[in-house]
Amino acid sequence: MTAEKFIQIPWKLERDPPFFEGNDIKSPEEMFRYILKNHSKKGDKIFDPFAGLGTSLFITEEMGRVPFGIEFEPQKYEWVAGQLKNWTQMICDDAAKMDKYNLPKMDLVIACPPYMERHTKWNPLYGGDPKYAGYEKYLKHMGFIFGKVSTLMKKTTPLIIQLDNIQNGKKFTPLIHDVINILNKNFIQTNEKIVQWNNPKPDYPFTTLLYFKKR
Ligand SMILES: C[S@@+](CC[C@H](N)C(=O)[O-])C[C@H]1O[C@@H](n2cnc3c(N)ncnc32)[C@H](O)[C@@H]1O
Repeated sequence: MTAEKFIQIPWKLERDPPFFEGNDIKSPEEMFRYILKNHSKKGDKIFDPFAGLGTSLFITEEMGRVPFGIEFEPQKYEWVAGQLKNWTQMICDDAAKMDKYNLPKMDLVIACPPYMERHTKWNPLYGGDPKYAGYEKYLKHMGFIFGKVSTLMKKTTPLIIQLDNIQNGKKFTPLIHDVINILNKNFIQTNEKIVQWNNPKPDYPFTTLLYFKKR
């Protein structure tokens, strides 16, 4: 492995979360600065289909790029849209419905999808709707959503996904492997980088960035 496979980024969350949400789903702002600096330029259109607390979109505006995002929880959507200059480009819906919105072709896609353990039933991509319970349906929907994402990408557009395998006691979920597998139909993996957090949380020393281009 080459040195560039490993990136050092401080674990520091710069923006306080809203009152209704902890910081658990957020990634450090500095990770998005690293991605945007290395894979986009001023004026580029940046898309995040799982916007969450909007970290990627806030940094996109800070760096003079143009954000587009989807988040299906209305409270998070309102909190993020309320702080964006380009708030009309923030959508509150299931990312699977992105083709309803006439979105432009993007120059870079960044995604931190919600994680699921394979032994559990609650499917975070459907807000826990019991009709869609289970890991298989989670992976299938992930494949469907990223299939839609590929239609918004040019041949040269990178897709960068933040993902982690999950170790919960003796139970292991090979999420990275399973997502790469499900994306294989529409994407070719081009790279993988390990982000080592400086001053890590003891239970979370690193994360993984997976790089793809569309087939
Ligand atoms: C891990 S969080 C993203 C965190 C974000 N990168 C940040 O730093 O704030 C994943 C987000 O995806 C949202 N989500 C889950 N399923 C979704 C779906 N089907 N469509 C759109 N958003 C969804 C969740 O509500 C959650 O806010």
